[in-house]
Amino acid sequence: CGIVGYIGLNDSKEILLKGLEKLEYRGYDSAGIAVKNENGVAVFKEKGRIADLRSVVDNSVEGSVGIGHTRWATHGAPSHVNAHPHQSTTERFTLVHNGVIENYSQLKREYLASVELVSETDTEVIVQLIETFVNQGLSTEEAFQKALKELKGSYAIALLDNQQEDTIFVAKNKSPLLVGLGENFNVVASDAMAMLQVTDQYVELMDKEMVIVKQDEVIIKNLDGKTMTRSPYTAELDASDIEKGTYPHYMLKEIDEQPLVMRKIIQAYQNDAGELSIDEGVLNAVNAADRIYIVACGTSYHAGLVGKEFLEKTAKIPTEVHVASEFVYNTPLLSDKPLFIFISQSGETADSRAVLVRVKELGHPTLTLTNVAGSTLSREASHTLLLHAGPEIAVASTKAYTAQIAVLSILAEVAGKAKGFEMSFDLIQELGIVATAMEALTDDKEAFEQIARDFLSVTRNAFFIGRSMDYHVVQEAALKLKEISYIQAEGFAGGELKHGTIALIEDGTPVFAVTTQENVNLSIRGNVKEVAARGAHTCTISMKGMEEEGDSYVIPYVHELLSPLVSVVPTQLIAYYAALHRDCDVDKPRNLAKSVTVE
Ligand code: G6P
Repeated sequence: CGIVGYIGLNDSKEILLKGLEKLEYRGYDSAGIAVKNENGVAVFKEKGRIADLRSVVDNSVEGSVGIGHTRWATHGAPSHVNAHPHQSTTERFTLVHNGVIENYSQLKREYLASVELVSETDTEVIVQLIETFVNQGLSTEEAFQKALKELKGSYAIALLDNQQEDTIFVAKNKSPLLVGLGENFNVVASDAMAMLQVTDQYVELMDKEMVIVKQDEVIIKNLDGKTMTRSPYTAELDASDIEKGTYPHYMLKEIDEQPLVMRKIIQAYQNDAGELSIDEGVLNAVNAADRIYIVACGTSYHAGLVGKEFLEKTAKIPTEVHVASEFVYNTPLLSDKPLFIFISQSGETADSRAVLVRVKELGHPTLTLTNVAGSTLSREASHTLLLHAGPEIAVASTKAYTAQIAVLSILAEVAGKAKGFEMSFDLIQELGIVATAMEALTDDKEAFEQIARDFLSVTRNAFFIGRSMDYHVVQEAALKLKEISYIQAEGFAGGELKHGTIALIEDGTPVFAVTTQENVNLSIRGNVKEVAARGAHTCTISMKGMEEEGDSYVIPYVHELLSPLVSVVPTQLIAYYAALHRDCDVDKPRNLAKSVTVE
């Protein structure tokens, strides 16, 4: 799920391997590098982690041009043979690819009937296609260009030709890819974090562009061969932001950073007069809409569910929340003046982007809420609001979720005020209280470690229940637990459990209830009794003011509308410790990728 490349004067191996390590957070199940040297191109690849790849790299091979790849299996299982780089039959061409080539079977039939393919990947088709075109008399650049024109789907590609001195051929469509500029070297990377070790100067690539990267030159062309000019930008990332420091895991570090992120967000969205403010263009777009459609995936979708409450309750705009992958193929009937809000930590999620492309074609205004400035969803939407959460490395999202909710609360408040609605509370002050409450919870880790021990040590499954705002939080709580501990977990509306799922409750089945909303407190407590009567091992997390004897944990009081920001923290920590106790790879759970750039 990531690409790196280096062309310069030094040996490339370590730069490539370090770069791949920085991309580990994106999730992958095999990895490889290719290094051009006097004997051709040496390829090293291995199933598993970068550490496994390191153990098969021959350190005596040196070369100052190389490409590298981490693969998250789509076509073909994770294996040595399916790992990238892939080579053409004569081994003249070596290629790495992210994305999915939709028409690969057709291309195989049409052009490669006589070529023997060794892997099950769609990627091998690309490299064989290039060799086939070169065999027909085209130059490498022409063959690359012709192959790109044939490809349908998404790709970020880096290609080496062992007969061409010192060039990396690069191309991109829908999958992210950047070219980084240095003195006497240039690099290629799926994101700036990968190569921040060597440069902070990057050039963005647009879809359907190809790039000829040399040690001292970068030439960008469109697929018709027209040269494009583009200035580099400085990646505003602090290398220390992407280090774990003294933490055992990024996830724990990121959970702990949440109070700080809240304070950063308050600052970032405050004007000189000390009031919350949002870019005027965004505000006009929000207030011109007769209905808002929030589109997102995974944890971001769960943040959207909370955002809907703000937009409807504070700004009084009807709002729907949709899972991106469903929306594309089953688009609901749209209102007259819709605004689309895309929520995406990475800003690269292909499912969300597919909706963005579609609604732009329909001419509707779009807003992206993302943590990554300059990401694809940010570039392509009419407007962007940034999360200011700092890089999130752990695959399971924590601080981005709370940042998304906080930014949505600000957006709704400012939009509501602009419409002349009276606000019943001071959001800056309430978010400050949230930050302090989060701190109290992150300081109380032992309590959550104990809950994880008591409730989740031996179980196969767990249920989370909540009502109203708490229902949104329990869905996220269940996802977090599933993602990192592999315990089968579901989040239910408190009243819904008895309409089917209660059949699964056995002696000792853990059921977590979250209760922070006065008007449903008694009902959810009724639901807890129902499951307890059937043998469930119940853990109630309540909010100060609503607590009852026997509750497992009482979180500090915050404004009811903002409670998800705080009630989610215990569930993040419980998931973290449950995963830790089960010896799971907390930061890099199996089968998952941080940014899923394939649909
Ligand atoms: C992947 C990750 C999830 C994440 C989702 C959406 O599936 O594993 O943790 O919530 O993508 O990502 P985004 O970057 O769009 O928020």
